[in-house]
Amino acid sequence: MPDNASERDALVNRQLPQMQLSDGSSSSFTAPPPPPPHYLDAEGRAQHRFAVEGNAIITGGAGTLALECARALLEHGLSGLALLDINPQQAAGPITSLIAEFPSAQIITKQVDVRDSESINAAVAETAKHLGSVDILCCFAGVVGCTHATDMALEEWKSTMDINCTGSFLCAQAVAKQMIPQETGGSIVFIASISGHRVNFPQPQVAYNVSKSALLSLKNSLAAEWARYGIRVNTISPGYMDTILNKGHGLEKARNIWTSRNPMGRMGVPQELTGPLVLLCSGAGSYINAADIVVDGGGLVF
Ligand SMILES: NC(=O)c1ccc[n+]([C@@H]2O[C@H](COP(=O)([O-])OP(=O)(O)OC[C@H]3O[C@@H](n4cnc5c(N)ncnc54)[C@H](O)[C@@H]3O)[C@@H](O)[C@H]2O)c1
Repeated sequence: MPDNASERDALVNRQLPQMQLSDGSSSSFTAPPPPPPHYLDAEGRAQHRFAVEGNAIITGGAGTLALECARALLEHGLSGLALLDINPQQAAGPITSLIAEFPSAQIITKQVDVRDSESINAAVAETAKHLGSVDILCCFAGVVGCTHATDMALEEWKSTMDINCTGSFLCAQAVAKQMIPQETGGSIVFIASISGHRVNFPQPQVAYNVSKSALLSLKNSLAAEWARYGIRVNTISPGYMDTILNKGHGLEKARNIWTSRNPMGRMGVPQELTGPLVLLCSGAGSYINAADIVVDGGGLVF
């Protein structure tokens, strides 16, 4: 930013960098996918449609929703998986089970704080070296705090934005810098929230809501800039899911309010996110870019 009058005057001499869109030609990274192999029968084509290829990085990978989605990607053919989390140890048991369940897949974990760009860059480089490529990024790392706006400490505000929004950007940037020279395209999915669309009730959570809203915008910008590399960027906005984030005796009243305002009358279960994630990460999602899939039982209609 110009800090004096002459620098401000010089603004008129700027040349704006211009983003480049794909021309969509058959030699571009956004060319239509080839038809399924002719030798496949109907069942084979159904499997081929939702096949997940290559290797994925999942942040917040030791969390409830992330692990459920990791299993689904592996079921659909994922070859390698790096689970990045600030505390991978919290899910040591489930991760060991996942490794046992999918012996032919390479599954690694790394302790990474998504606020630390050096640590992210190192983890992405190590993952690419270990697994051979990075083809999918799913950003689940996130924190929520319920604080009245008037009581919000700067530290809580910054930390929520840093983890939920800036952390997702830093991971996407590091992964895109890996995907672009690979020349294989890729899929990036941010886990946003209904909180990015509407204000939750009854709990006050301004920092979380703003951080998730920002993810919806981040997805649009990156989807526009990176489509020409064959990198699709989308979000999933879950409603209230029955996970540790929404459990506990103190939340009973709030849970009743959430479910009573939902047309389906209940919260979601983690497996209900897996279908949309597989769609976005598989060939079935080849023309889905800059989309947000709301998975909330219809709660956003009110
Ligand atoms: N559970 C819900 O109802 C719900 C609804 C909408 C959106 N979401 C979003 O889904 C995502 C996963 O939620 P969940 O319910 O599985 O919660 P979770 O707490 O089980 O998972 C979050 C994970 O992020 C990790 N994490 C936190 N800070 C980190 C950091 N600085 N660096 C790296 N990892 C970090 C945690 O260790 C944890 O494993 C979050 O982004 C959350 O905001 C959840």
